[in-house]
Parts: sequence; structure tokens; C-alpha cells
Amino acid sequence: MLIVVGLCAQFAIAQKRIWNETETEKEKRLEWWLNDRFGMFIHWGTYALAGRHEWVKKRERIPDDAYRKYFDNFNPDLYDPVEWAKMAKAAGMKYAVITSKHHEGFTLFDSKFTDYKATNTPYGKDLLKMWVDAFRAEGLKIGFYYSLIDWHHPEYTIDRVHPQSANTQEEYDALNKDRDMSIYREYLENQVREILTNYGKVDILWLDYSFPGKFGKGRDDWGSVELMKMVRELQPEIIVNDRADLKDYQGGWDFTTPEQFKVPEWPTYEGKKIPWETCQTFSGSWGYYRDEHTWKDTKQLLVLLIESVSKGGNLLLNVGPTGRGKIDYRAEYALSSMGAWMKYNSPSIYGCSQAPESFEVPDHSLLTYNPKTNRLYIHLLDYPLQNFTLKGYKGKVKYAQFLHDASEIRITAPHGHWVKQELSENDINLRLPVSKPPVEIPVIELVLED
Ligand code: GLC
Repeated sequence: MLIVVGLCAQFAIAQKRIWNETETEKEKRLEWWLNDRFGMFIHWGTYALAGRHEWVKKRERIPDDAYRKYFDNFNPDLYDPVEWAKMAKAAGMKYAVITSKHHEGFTLFDSKFTDYKATNTPYGKDLLKMWVDAFRAEGLKIGFYYSLIDWHHPEYTIDRVHPQSANTQEEYDALNKDRDMSIYREYLENQVREILTNYGKVDILWLDYSFPGKFGKGRDDWGSVELMKMVRELQPEIIVNDRADLKDYQGGWDFTTPEQFKVPEWPTYEGKKIPWETCQTFSGSWGYYRDEHTWKDTKQLLVLLIESVSKGGNLLLNVGPTGRGKIDYRAEYALSSMGAWMKYNSPSIYGCSQAPESFEVPDHSLLTYNPKTNRLYIHLLDYPLQNFTLKGYKGKVKYAQFLHDASEIRITAPHGHWVKQELSENDINLRLPVSKPPVEIPVIELVLED
């Protein structure tokens, strides 16, 4: 009996495995991604023409024939992916992920399995191919977002996130009586095979998304296990997100994806810290939204980036290009102002992670740490007046400087005319210049004792 139970348990474990990869092999595979920290997300499809969110078809419950006008008029005459790639690079981004297909079902790539694709629009070209060539040429790593959800495919069964969503089981049964999800499943597998076969090496696959439960969909609907096995076979070095509902499968995902919120601390799974990337928008929409005005300012965006790294994570920041193929002026501004900061301060981002707990985080600041160079970075969110005390840092710091210009910051007794501030024996004090340096968030670089 015990043997049987043991065998069953072993069988169960063996089943929950997409492939055999050791922890060390996984670390190696993710090394570049963990180092690079900062990427560009791109949401682009025919919804850009509506200019009011990529979910417009669902939000307004637009039927296929009425939605068709966005396809018929899709002609991004100003599309220049080289320009996009240069903007991403200048912002300090090291990789990019584009929607090869979003929920609307339209593909930017030339697929053998559908007519609903860029090559059949007035524009007539494989937009993905042009994009891959441009981004690769700029030295950026490339990733494909692919929507598991599909609001166009006739065999995709209507569910609660579909534009034709209903209320009761009877209504769903009636809506779905002529739909066969297994045909869609095959279609999805075929298209993922296409994007992972026809465009050379793909660095990231971003599948979106599962919503199991009532009138929802999960791994069995997508055929996630088989799909992921294929993905791993076609592109063994690829890095995959965690939205195919395979959380309990080894090799079913590589990183987790907190969306549009700040994690309170480094996310864990079964008690272990896991790789993570937060995806965020500049304003409240992924697809181009003309009349949306909640744009984050430069400081908020930089804090998003720094704070992610300070908790061991990455940031994937989104642009939603227009129907003419341009990154709109607000996004362009945001990218360039982040770039202005990154130009001088990127060493506190690339190759960095959470600081060792033995370093107390000073008030109004964020810490990152580079384990290879043994340097600690203090990001000053609110620039202090002259004295900056580091509690418990005594004996740990060899040298201090501003990162942006490598100018020394003296480690010296606190300055004060009337009241002399005493340091406790474990503390050190940095003497900062009165004027805030001309960077949005000044960074102090501490060269640590070995
Ligand atoms: C959500 C949305 C989607 C967006 C994505 C980005 O899942 O459905 O529109 O593409 O998040 O993370």
C-alpha cells in the first residue's frame, strides 16, 4: 500500500513538469533578463484607431462587423520601428515586448492560419517582421506578447471577458452551441509555433491571460501543458511569463507579472523569492487612448523603476503607438526624460537588486545594490539639507560619491552652527552640497568595504 502511494506521489510530481531543468540552469537562462531590469512593452493593434483602450470591443460590446472598420482603415503610414527602437534604447530600456496578437484577435504578423492580419490591411506588410529587425539591430532583446484570449475567432467560446459575454449558463450554452474550443486551441498552438519559428531567436514569450472559474478559462482550455512543451522545444532559451495557468508546473513559467500596482515586497512562491516584472502604463491604458489624461510624471516613473529594482524586480513600461504608427508626444516626452536620468544613473539599475538587509534604508530613499561590484546606491527621493546620516554604516563604507558625476561626497562629522549633532558610534554622516544636483533623483554611490 505504502509503495503504491509512493509511486502515485512520484507519478504526480513527474506529471507536473514541462521539462527538466536544474535551478542553476534556470539562473543561467534568466541571467541577462535579471541584469537588464528595464524593458518596453508595446500594445499595438487595430484598436489604436478607436483610440479609447485596447478593450474597447468588450467595453462597448462592439460586434465583429462594426469593429471591422478599424481593420479596413488600418494603415500606419508613419510606422518606423527603427525610431521606436532608438527611443527605447535612449530611455535605457534593454528589451521590448510587443503584442503579436491582442485580445481583439488581429495579428501584426503574417499568419497562415487567419485572414485577420496586418498583411491583409491597407498597409499590407508584416509589421512584426519589421519590428524584430529594427529592435534586434539596435541590440535590444525581443519578446512577443500573444493573447490566449481571442474576440475574433469564430470557434473561441464566449466567456465572461468576451464582448458578447452573458449572465446565465443557459445563455452561454446557447451562444456556444456551434463553437468548438478544440479548434481554437489548435489555432492558438499553430500561431504560437509560427511566431516562435519564423522570426529567429525570440527572447521572451508573454502569454495573456488565464481567468479560471465560472465562465472563465484556464490551462485545459488553452492546452497550456502541451503548448508550453512546444515553446520550450522550439526556443529552449526563451523566458516565459506566468499567465498560462501553469503555476504548479516546473518549467510552466519563469517570472511573475504584477500588473499596474507596486508590490509591497519581493514576491514569493512557496516561500521562495521568485523572478518578477511589473508591467505598467504611462497613463491608464495599454493601447493608444487619445483622451486619457492620467499621465505619470517623470519622478513617479523613475520611482517605479528604482523601487522595482530595490525589491529585486524588473519594470516593463508600456507605450501604445497611434494608428499612424507613432509613439505619441506624451510617451515620447516620458521616455526621453527617463533617458536623461538613465544616461548617468543606470549603474544603479543594471545588474542591481535588493540591498542586503544589514543596510538600513535611510528616510525618503530607496536602496539598490550591485553584488558584482559591491556598491550600494542610495536614491534620494527628497533631497536632504547638507547632513545625511547613515545609521549602522560605520566600518562598511570605503568611499562615497554622486553617481551622475563621480564627485566625492565627504564622510565627515555633521555640520551645524548652533546645535552640534552627535553621531552614535555605529553611524556615519555624509556632507552633501546645499544645492540639489541637476538630476531628477540624485544617487549616492557607496563603495563598500570587502
Ligand atoms: C491585461 C489586459 C491587457 C493588457 C495586459 C498587460 O491582462 O487584458 O489589455 O495587455 O494586461 O499586462
